[in-house]
Amino acid sequence: MGASGTTGLQRTALITGASRGLGLVLARALAAQGWHLVLDARGAEALEAAHAELAKMTAVVAIAGDVGDSAHRARLAEAVRAFGGLDALVNNASVLGPSPRPNLLEYPLDALETVFRVNVLAPLALVQTLAGDLKPGARILNVTSDAAVQPYAGWGGYGASKAALEQLTAILAAERPDWRVYWVDPGDMRTQMQQDAFPGEDISDRPLPDASVPGFLALLTGDLPSGRYQAQALAATQGASPAPAPHPGPVHGMRLVLTVPDFERAAEFYRDGLGLEAAEQWIGPESKGILFRAGKASLEIVNAAQAAEVNGIETGRQGVGMVRLAFRVDDSAGMATRLVERGARALSEAVMTPWGHLNVRLQAPDGLPQDIELTLSQVAAPEAESV
Ligand SMILES: NC(=O)c1ccc[n+]([C@@H]2O[C@H](COP(=O)([O-])OP(=O)(O)OC[C@H]3O[C@@H](n4cnc5c(N)ncnc54)[C@H](OP(=O)(O)O)[C@@H]3O)[C@@H](O)[C@H]2O)c1
Repeated sequence: MGASGTTGLQRTALITGASRGLGLVLARALAAQGWHLVLDARGAEALEAAHAELAKMTAVVAIAGDVGDSAHRARLAEAVRAFGGLDALVNNASVLGPSPRPNLLEYPLDALETVFRVNVLAPLALVQTLAGDLKPGARILNVTSDAAVQPYAGWGGYGASKAALEQLTAILAAERPDWRVYWVDPGDMRTQMQQDAFPGEDISDRPLPDASVPGFLALLTGDLPSGRYQAQALAATQGASPAPAPHPGPVHGMRLVLTVPDFERAAEFYRDGLGLEAAEQWIGPESKGILFRAGKASLEIVNAAQAAEVNGIETGRQGVGMVRLAFRVDDSAGMATRLVERGARALSEAVMTPWGHLNVRLQAPDGLPQDIELTLSQVAAPEAESV
């Protein structure tokens, strides 16, 4: 199965596991945008059918093989190089493991080894092999699952492999802050894997994998920071009207910012306990932050390093407050004056932040309680994000 011709400057993606399910619908969407594609799957017949369909739209190389096999990965890398490098590596191919799903005490360890080889080692191996072929601005998307973070009974093998993939990807993002590295939960999808996970059950209530594609496209073509994303939730935010909702008063929104000693535990507590979706994440060498949409408000969890970084920008201070309320307002300096008249203590003049907001930090008056800090945030640059 060969390329149907290549041209000069344009984007190329390697999508593993693209003969059906999510990989195939994503390949279709990228083909429609003219991306060159390198695809694989183990089953040659279904892959050939996908190739025949997609080659009508763009240049496609489809190579049948197992991502767990290093010789096959070398062939994928050769195809990428023939296209002149890579703009996106989508590690999508994955195996569920035995079906019906065994509990851990009965889990055959040789099957578990296969699950880890395909779901964890192969994605990393492809990143290692193709690191030198990534073009500037290239993205790495590793497809994970809610089973990576939820301890569902009977999902021990697959879930543990996806948890390992998530942590591996998060650390890759921390080690390579110059890359865009995403680990993406596509959400439940009506695919063969879903049917294999629930043999004999009616899965017609699950959305088709097409529902996850807009979220993937947002990551592939947008400018989102490295982090964990839920594709269907991201798709919903991408589809939302960009026009701001009308607001009745001078405050547009509120974000609660908590500085926590154990970032992972707190993020997991609020995400899983309340079922919140992460809208953004920040990961630096030491700093970590995650933003959750919580209905009309939002909740931001940060570690001390991230809090110190923002404090430094807004106030020039070293100390780190544990609780901060950030209000999006029209006139941060004017509102600060009103709050100071009512007993608040200004911790800074209005400062322009690197993310385009005119911010004032204040401390709440005695008894309100005082250890809560307030940020008044005014959007100064029109494209800056909302609370
Ligand atoms: N479906 C869901 O509800 C759901 C939920 C959360 C996460 N996910 C994740 O979403 C991704 C896509 O899943 P899907 O539901 O679209 O699965 P799917 O319908 O089973 O498709 C999987 C694709 O990967 C290929 N593949 C499997 N093992 C491979 C291997 N070792 N080497 C090369 N290709 C391989 C399959 O073809 P061959 O079998 O012919 O190799 C097929 O093309 C996976 O990472 C999955 O874990 C799915």
